[in-house]
Amino acid sequence: MSAVTPPTADQSGIAAQIQTSALEAGIAQRLAQRDQAVGPAYLKAKKIFGHKLSMRNATVADASYIVALRTDEQKSRFISSTSANVKPQEQWLEKYARDDKQIYFIIQNMEGENIGTVRLYDQQADSFCWGSWIIQAGSASSSSIESALMVYHYALALGFQRAHFDVRKANESVWKFHERFGAKKTGETAEDLHYSIAASDIISSLNRYAKFLPKGIQIQF
Ligand SMILES: CC(C)(COP(=O)(O)OP(=O)(O)OC[C@H]1O[C@@H](n2cnc3c(N)ncnc32)[C@H](O)[C@@H]1OP(=O)(O)O)[C@@H](O)C(=O)NCCC(=O)NCCS
Repeated sequence: MSAVTPPTADQSGIAAQIQTSALEAGIAQRLAQRDQAVGPAYLKAKKIFGHKLSMRNATVADASYIVALRTDEQKSRFISSTSANVKPQEQWLEKYARDDKQIYFIIQNMEGENIGTVRLYDQQADSFCWGSWIIQAGSASSSSIESALMVYHYALALGFQRAHFDVRKANESVWKFHERFGAKKTGETAEDLHYSIAASDIISSLNRYAKFLPKGIQIQF
């Protein structure tokens, strides 16, 4: 069985676009090398090119950037707290480099400037979790939507069929963003809302918002 199964309910050619990027990047072979021929798994791409954005694998050299971003007073209101010291962040990133169970991207604009982060982690069978999603104030307003579309394109190219994530109840603009994408609430705690989104809803949104990512993604390992 191919590692990359075309998601269902696609009349748009988006699934074909995703399969092409997966084929060009040799994802099935890479998964097979990891004994993951049957199911999806996290592969750390070196860089993913979108429309106005790219995303590159985070390295230890990004520690001070990540600390500055995650300790920004406005941006940190709804994310788990981060030490203002760079050292523990460097240690976290060193460990991350050896960890094949997550992918941490630095989001960049066309000028190659860092504008944010996003992370894929907590794989549950064919469902991926994403978060640590932060975009600097002052970035183009299309950045949030394009980065979300890039995450979904890449995860589907890896063979994932759904996603799950938590959002703080008070982070209203973000849970509204996910609900517009088709995410469904699956539960809640005192502080958080739990969501999941199926491949068919992901594909619908990739189609609906295709103008933000007209040619899909190009994956570089
Ligand atoms: C999460 C985060 C990256 C989202 O980015 P954002 O810029 O706030 O996203 P928004 O929902 O405001 O969308 C940005 C723009 O895209 C537009 N947009 C969003 N979704 C859209 C959609 N589905 N269709 C069309 N336009 C859309 C918005 O209208 C907005 O346009 P505007 O700037 O002209 O008002 C950002 O809020 C952030 O860094 N937050 C802090 C960290 C955080 O809480 N992360 C989430 C943890 S779960």
